[in-house]
Amino acid sequence: RFQRRNRPCRYDIDQFMPSFMSIFESLVPSDEEISKQKQLLTALSRLINKEWPNAKLYLYGSCANSFGFSNSDIDLCLSIDDKEMSKVDIILKLADILHAGNLQNIQALTRARVPIVKLKDPNTGLSCDICVNNLLAVVNTKLLRDYSQIDKRLRQLAFIVKHWAKSRCVNETYRGTLSSYAYVIMCIHLLQLRGILPCLQEMDPTYYVTVDNNTCAYFDQVDKLNSYGAQNKDTVSKLLWTFFHYWAYQHDYTKDAISIRTGRIISKHMKDWTRRVGNDRHLICIEDPFETSHDLGRVVDKRSIWTLREEFERAANILQYDPNPSVTLFEPY
Ligand code: GTP
Ligand code: MG
Repeated sequence: RFQRRNRPCRYDIDQFMPSFMSIFESLVPSDEEISKQKQLLTALSRLINKEWPNAKLYLYGSCANSFGFSNSDIDLCLSIDDKEMSKVDIILKLADILHAGNLQNIQALTRARVPIVKLKDPNTGLSCDICVNNLLAVVNTKLLRDYSQIDKRLRQLAFIVKHWAKSRCVNETYRGTLSSYAYVIMCIHLLQLRGILPCLQEMDPTYYVTVDNNTCAYFDQVDKLNSYGAQNKDTVSKLLWTFFHYWAYQHDYTKDAISIRTGRIISKHMKDWTRRVGNDRHLICIEDPFETSHDLGRVVDKRSIWTLREEFERAANILQYDPNPSVTLFEPY
């Protein structure tokens, strides 16, 4: 049903830059919002440290990786070394601590795949989820943020892709489509192939941590790389076209996996991702940069892969032919 196709980009793609940029600007959180997030982090840390002096609270996910929209929920991770208590015990005790601290709508979700406490802070009006000892997420948050410092087109492209995915309802992992995290990785991969971003994990490492037996190491002095992509002059409109054209018409879904760890396309065969194992079908393969056995496309099933590919094709065709792509692209599904 889907054909591979190689067609040149429309000649007038750059005329849509102002409209795509104004969409980007409208989604960026204000300085005021960012300072409220920091304020909440400080207040919660203080409360938690009274009970657990050695615990540390980290921001992760979109509010810390630089790919967050305004008004999004905050993801927090509590790092705590307590051999006596199980994760569920920690979650329950954390909920008690938060109750005593006058926070609202507190819910301890102890049976979720990732157990969390949800809450709302009446002072800032912000809602957040707190998980426990999910340090790999804190480290991959830093990797994404570091990539976004190298070339500003990454953040712009990823915002527009995320906005498209949310508008078209293909950013819902519980329904078999991809996470925001997966979309950002797809954008990083594209910019690596275009020579706009380097592959930080292939360079001499300046940052190392070991998390649950995974060694995470990469070059993180990104302020030294801020002219890295300058020889490539592609605009964000052109990159958006390239992104959708790639996923609609060029990606080989039967053979290829994308990998920002290596900065290349790697073979599904080498990863042993060619057949279904349990619930993992590997119909679109996106390697996690640190948990390399982890395919971020594992949530995609045999129905949702068609939904996704049809949406990639729709987007590619709109960018190719539509007179008003910056409107049509985001029309609600
Ligand atoms: P929005 O909330 O949609 O704006 O985006 P988000 O960046 O918060 O993304 P998401 O909710 O997809 O994930 C939150 C964070 O959890 C990510 O930034 C990652 O750090 C982490 N994460 C999400 N999914 C995975 C996964 O499959 N594997 C790993 N290792 N980490 C993940
Ligand atoms: Mg989030």
